[in-house]
Amino acid sequence: MSAMNAFYAQSGGVTAVINASACGVIETARKNKDRIANVYAGRNGIIGALTEDMIDTNRESASTIAALMHTGGGAFGSARYKLKGLEENRAEYERLIEVFAAHNIGYFFYNGGNDSMDTAHKVSQISKRMGFPVTCLGVPKTVDNDLPITDNCPGFGSVAKYVAVSTQEAALDVASMAETSTKVFVLEVMGRHAGWIAAAGGLAGSEPGDAPHIILFPEVPFNKAAFLKRVKFCVQNYGYCVIVVSEGAAYKNGKFLAEAGTRDAFGHAQLGGVAPVVAGMVRDNLGYKYHYAVADYLQRSARHIASATDVKQAYAVGKAAVEFALKGHTAVMPVIKRKSDKPYRWTIEKAPLSRIANKEKMLPKKYITKDGFGITEACRRYLSPLIKGEDYPPYVNGLPKVAKLKGISVKPKLHKKFVV
Ligand code: F6P
Repeated sequence: MSAMNAFYAQSGGVTAVINASACGVIETARKNKDRIANVYAGRNGIIGALTEDMIDTNRESASTIAALMHTGGGAFGSARYKLKGLEENRAEYERLIEVFAAHNIGYFFYNGGNDSMDTAHKVSQISKRMGFPVTCLGVPKTVDNDLPITDNCPGFGSVAKYVAVSTQEAALDVASMAETSTKVFVLEVMGRHAGWIAAAGGLAGSEPGDAPHIILFPEVPFNKAAFLKRVKFCVQNYGYCVIVVSEGAAYKNGKFLAEAGTRDAFGHAQLGGVAPVVAGMVRDNLGYKYHYAVADYLQRSARHIASATDVKQAYAVGKAAVEFALKGHTAVMPVIKRKSDKPYRWTIEKAPLSRIANKEKMLPKKYITKDGFGITEACRRYLSPLIKGEDYPPYVNGLPKVAKLKGISVKPKLHKKFVV
């Protein structure tokens, strides 16, 4: 079989380690030059394929590709762009296959979350129907940790570490000030509809009375009276109260405590801004002095404090995706299987994209304490290994050294422009 090219794209919100997956894909492809001649990376994700704007990764040196391991952000640009169903938007799929055919692209590696797995699945079906079958592999990524089947998602371990570390550090600060000043600190974290990231804040404390004293999960309907009662109890008994709140915290009727009012291409409401809402409730009802922080992009971009376990797994899924593709598997995604908690052992298997696409895995009930404000021992056992180990980037002049891509474009072959 003669060698074909591969197309790699980053999709959705980036993580601190998505580039480690890119590194896994590109380095493994380079070891198999007889089968994969070149990896073209989509500039700004799938949009790069539609507009024929692709980066020639063969023009990047081995050391630049290796430096992706410790570079945050999405090196090639990511996109929130949803390809609709074939019936609704045939032109987009036809264009994609046209570009793939023009550039002899026989492999598609899509590095993303639930929505992206749906796209990769559709492309695998449609390419076959259109007579240019493309081997389509999902490469898992999401800080939200909400993909089914896989034990955890690359990107999550690092955001979890950042949130656990930040909760611990901020709690030390508040504890010092509480006697005469600030009594309440609220940290807002991401996670959309799933409380995995909020749960990670719980790793900061292990004894009763340790911070965080309250975690507000999307999975537990918000009860204002119970919440305020708990804040008061903590301040009276521990001197201060640290709260970790998920951006997806919502009332019983499903209404978010805070919603920014905008939606992304997938129709998801943009969340954020719940920390000031919660802090305002404390001020108005209890009168305590407070501070709050919205961790926002700081948490998912924090490569400096990435989990070594996460970095390893992010690389491993990229590598495995290429290996599965070369063995002839298509419409699958590498998944992480946990073999044991202590010592933490894991391996990579594969699962069909059809079982992953568009599904969200929530924090199970058994991981949330009965009062709804904390994490259980079982949750701790699950989370602890994922934040283990440090993988500091090299520093130059006091700042992390990052990969600088040449970003040379692949010469377009089609004359028709495509507007997205
Ligand atoms: O998809 C991961 C995520 O980080 C969510 O936790 C968050 O709600 C969302 O992305 C933010 O997305 P954007 O960067 O597109 O606003």
